[in-house]
Parts: sequence; C-alpha cells; structure tokens
Amino acid sequence: MAKLWGGRFSKNTNELVDAFNASIDFDKRLYREDIRGSIAHAKMLAKQGIIPAEDGETIKAGLETILADIEAGKFDFSVALEDIHMNVEARLTERIGAPGARLHTCRSRNDQVALDMHMYMKREVSEIAELLIAFEKAVLEVAKKHSKTLMPGYTHLQRAQPITFAHHMLAYFNMLQRDFRRLLGVWEGADMMPLGAGAIAGTTFPIDRFFVAEQLNFSKVYNNSMDAVSDRDYVIEFLSFASTLMMHMSRISEEICLWSSTEFGFVELDDGFATGSSMMPQKKNPDISELVRGKTGRVYGHLMAMLTTCKGLPLTYNKDLQEDKEGFFDAIDTVKFTLAVYRDMILTMTVNVDKMAEAISKDFSNATDLADYLVRKGLPFRNAHEVCGKCVAYAILNNKFLGEISVAEYQQFSELIGEDLYEALKPYNCVEARKSYGGPAFSENDKQFVIGDEVLAKQEAKLAELKANI
Ligand code: ARG
Repeated sequence: MAKLWGGRFSKNTNELVDAFNASIDFDKRLYREDIRGSIAHAKMLAKQGIIPAEDGETIKAGLETILADIEAGKFDFSVALEDIHMNVEARLTERIGAPGARLHTCRSRNDQVALDMHMYMKREVSEIAELLIAFEKAVLEVAKKHSKTLMPGYTHLQRAQPITFAHHMLAYFNMLQRDFRRLLGVWEGADMMPLGAGAIAGTTFPIDRFFVAEQLNFSKVYNNSMDAVSDRDYVIEFLSFASTLMMHMSRISEEICLWSSTEFGFVELDDGFATGSSMMPQKKNPDISELVRGKTGRVYGHLMAMLTTCKGLPLTYNKDLQEDKEGFFDAIDTVKFTLAVYRDMILTMTVNVDKMAEAISKDFSNATDLADYLVRKGLPFRNAHEVCGKCVAYAILNNKFLGEISVAEYQQFSELIGEDLYEALKPYNCVEARKSYGGPAFSENDKQFVIGDEVLAKQEAKLAELKANI
C-alpha cells in the first residue's frame, strides 16, 4: 500500500514496522471526530480561499459517504495506512481525487490527532457526567429510603457510633459531587482547539482557527502552536479524575463485599448482580464489587503510564504520544461500566434493616453517649471518658451491654448516673441527638436530602450545557 508520506522513500516499510507503528486498531474509535474535524477544516480552507469552494463541498460530501460506510461496517481499515487519519484521507482521495488530496493543506496529523482527542474527550465527558448524575441520584434515593435505618458506624473497622444507612450513603453522595466537579475541570482542559498548529509552527497560509473552533463548539483556541501539539495534560486530568472516582467506587465496593458477607449480613445483592461458584453450591459472590475494586488498580496504572510517557519528553510531538490512547479508552470504558452497573446494583440491593438494628442493639457504640450524658451532668469530658471506660470494662467482665447495667451498679462509677441514662443510650436517640451540622440526626439528613436534590438539579443544568457544546 502506497504511503501518504512515501515521496522521500525508495523502499517499502518493513512489515513488522507497519504492525508496530500502526494505531488503527484502537484509534479507529476516533472516526466520527476525525471526519467532523476534517469537514470543519475543509470549510475553513474554502472560506479563506485556500482551496476552491467547490473542493470544500466535494470533500464534505466525500467524507459523509465515508462516515456512512464506517457506521454501516463497510469500511476496510488498513494497518499499512497506520491510523484513522490516513485511512480516512486515503479513502477520500481514492473516491474524489484531487480535492481529497487538498484536504491536508495547512494541517499535520500532529494537530489533527490532538483535535480528534479533544473532541472525543468532550463527548465522553458529557456521557460520563450523565452516568455519574444517574448514579448520584440512585445513591440519594437509597439514602432517602433508609432515612430511619440504624446501623453501626465504624472507625478502624471497629464499631464506633450509631448512624443511619442514609448517613453512610450520603457520605458517598458527597464524594461523588466532588467527582462531578473534577469532571467539569476535565471538560475545561479538553475544551481548547488545537487545529492550525500544524506539525509544530502553524502555517504560512491565512487560516482562521477561530472559525474552526466555532464550527466545532470549542470555547477556546490554543495560544501557542507548540503547546497545542505537545499537550496531553487533558488526558492526564481525565485519568486523574477517573482514578479518584474509581478509588471512591472501590471503597463502596469493599463495603459491599463486607456487608454482604455472612459475618455482617447487612445487605443482600439481587440475584441479577451476584454470581455463583462452580464448586460450592451455596455461594453468592459480589463479583461486580470485587471487579470494580480490582479495575481501580488498572485505571491508576493508566494514569501512571501517561505521566511517565510525558515525563522528560522534548517538545513537541513525538511518537510516544500515540501511547495516550489505549489507557484513556480503557479508563473511559471502565468508568462508564462501573457507574452504570453500580446504579442498578445498589437500587436492587436488599438492605437488611433488622440485621443492622440488631447489630447496634448488642454493642458498645453508645459508649460516647454515656460520656456525653455525664458531661451534661457537669463532669469534664476527660473525666467522663475515664468513668465511661470503666463502665465498659465492667460491662464486658459481666457479660452485659451498657443498657443492661443497673443504676445501682452504675453508681459505683459515678453518682451522677440516674434512670434517665437508659433513654440516652437507645441507638435511635443516640442518632437523633447528633444534630450538629453534617451530623447523622434524622432532621439533619432530611435537610441534606433537600440540598442533594438542588445539587442534582444544578448538575443536570450543567450537563445540558455540556451536551450543547460537544
Ligand atoms: N497516530 C498518531 C498518534 O496517535 C497520529 C499522529 C502521528 N504524527 C506523526 N507525525 N507521525 O499520535
């Protein structure tokens, strides 16, 4: 196959070199952006009188037939043509002749690939934003449904203080809001138009980069041609967003693995979201959560790989930069899958309200409430902590919980303790008493539900804005 750059060569490319050099197997994903970008470029060339106006039209029509062929699965991608850019351009010229051969005027694959990647990222960011909002909504819905579901809260994976399942879910809801904010930052980095940088130093022709930017809904244009073709910060920013999101998803995954174990028994996954064992008939495994936890490592790897690829790379384009794609595409697929499957998984999961309530009725997670009770009776907190510690030790020794110790027994430790303690020790009251802003009190979380709905409405509005600008 004749190369588009074959002029200065007198020999064919070695077959291994063709195979090693080619990116078509993965960059064919960019076909829509490549074609749309080329149409905008051709239109600009015609508008500026750099190519004849009829050629601009012929190029557009030709590219549209190629787009239709690719979408219909009727396009033969060639490894010898290396990448999506040359596959499309070579086919175009085959179809329309000289106008096709004019398309690459004022353009290099260096700025072309950068343009494709920016456009592709904007589209993916909008799709991920939509999935993220849908998942956040599901988390908020589960939280609302379990506004009164008591459970133990943990620190060091040891029972700490009573909370509600709603409060636990709202913690994730807040983490995801930060992911959304970071995703908008990714959009900012992607929303800058590189075309017109040429290979490195712009062009001698009177191009109009701002016209291209407008055609393709970019709000900004790269100010420096060398930066435009060297920059992969936006890929790193995406992978950093993806890594943080996956870190959050791996934390909820770990909790779902724990909660669905017999030892906890707090949740049961729907049969459609769990898997069995080929040997042990009793098993119901949380494979999705385990896989999400596992895939998190892979996404971190892509971030590290990209940072390393760019480290010490001289300006401007170097073929190393072709390595920006596979990890990026894989991270996109992983994030999208994770958000989609998790949404349905948590909406269908059964929360064992009784099991959680039972756990909290037989533990010492109300010990802080005993200390707070003493503080309210006038004892300094440090002393109250000491007294309470002794009460807990006494209870453990006598095989009792704090609610089962009599007032007479308690009085050995503090005369301040009276009958009214028992109300304060009830898990429901322990939660309700924690009315500090951001605390788990029912009334506080009810306010957070309202705030949550407002946040989601704002995110939806932002999403509509992104979609109008892809
Ligand atoms: N396939 C290449 C990439 O993805 C396109 C740019 C190639 N540029 C070049 N000068 N060889 O990076």
